[in-house]
Amino acid sequence: MARIFSGIQPTGIATLGNYLGALRNWVALQEGEDDCVFCLVDMHAITNFQDPAALREQTRQMAALLLACGIDPARSILFHQSAVSAHARLAWIFNCVARMGWLKRMTQFKDKAGKNQEEVSTGLFVYPNLMAADIHAYHATKVPVGDDQLQHLELANDIAEKFNHDYGVTFFPRIEPLILKESARVMSLRDGTRKMSKSDPSDQSRINMTDTADMIDQKIRKAKTDTAPLPDNLHDLVERPEARNLVGIFATITGQTPHQVLNHFAGSGFGPFKSQLAEALIAHVEPIGARTREYLDDTAALDQILRDGAQAAAAIAEPIVAEAERLVGFLPR
Ligand code: TYM
Repeated sequence: MARIFSGIQPTGIATLGNYLGALRNWVALQEGEDDCVFCLVDMHAITNFQDPAALREQTRQMAALLLACGIDPARSILFHQSAVSAHARLAWIFNCVARMGWLKRMTQFKDKAGKNQEEVSTGLFVYPNLMAADIHAYHATKVPVGDDQLQHLELANDIAEKFNHDYGVTFFPRIEPLILKESARVMSLRDGTRKMSKSDPSDQSRINMTDTADMIDQKIRKAKTDTAPLPDNLHDLVERPEARNLVGIFATITGQTPHQVLNHFAGSGFGPFKSQLAEALIAHVEPIGARTREYLDDTAALDQILRDGAQAAAAIAEPIVAEAERLVGFLPR
């Protein structure tokens, strides 16, 4: 039996990109043999300043959303990162294993810091080390993520390899990304070359998992497209990123291949396609939003789920990180 680990930042509301790229895979993986550990990464969230009250609220909101998507605390461990100190302790060790050059190559750091590299937090720079610690603190070997996290997972493997080499052990295993091919990268509704993101300044660029039917309908109607009709093959979508994105979303949400979708809509304009897409999205997303609001009505129950999750998570991570501390030469606590 293997262990699965994944995380999501509790900043803003999860988007359709988070859901199609990662969360629905988390829910499916719970049905399998492997242990599942899912984490609200509040320590990663503060690499950019977060209003403290908003962070608390958004952490609960993300917990509620994960439960609403189908994460079952009886089958999976669900907790917030800061509640298990093993993450921070292992991250420090990894800060001392990872090399500056490795981190400088991270495209997400370069994107997020932009021209502002002198001004961003040092936490943002070492973000991938904490992410490696999240995974390796559980000896997890399978990590379900969207495409954008792949480089971070490669780095987590490099860190594990260097740790094992430096200390002459085979302690941290290799990890394998689990990426859903069809929806690894859901793009913005306003610009088909940018990923859909909870931090995009424009709310029109994304479907939030708590959007109402009216909002979803309006966002899909206004989603950027082009004037040509839908083609009958995928090849003709290569130069049409917005159309390709919408076809991909349609396919994923209705359980078809993009090819099947195009077979159905070939030659038609975007009008009928968009209204069926909105309908399918509403049927899928609206109940999740409603269940999220129900979970949020009982914060005491929600907090209890997270506390229980943290306790279960610590029971796994504590001995692993204590052993890593022993291996590097720290005296026992
Ligand atoms: P975060 O919070 O940005 O996103 C959570 C998950 O959603 C996926 N995702 C997408 N997939 C497809 N299309 C999109 N437009 C899209 N946007 C987001 C992400 O790939 C991710 O799987 N660094 C991570 C959180 C993290 C983590 C970890 C993940 C911290 N520690 C350990 C795995 C293992 C992040 O910021 O995810």
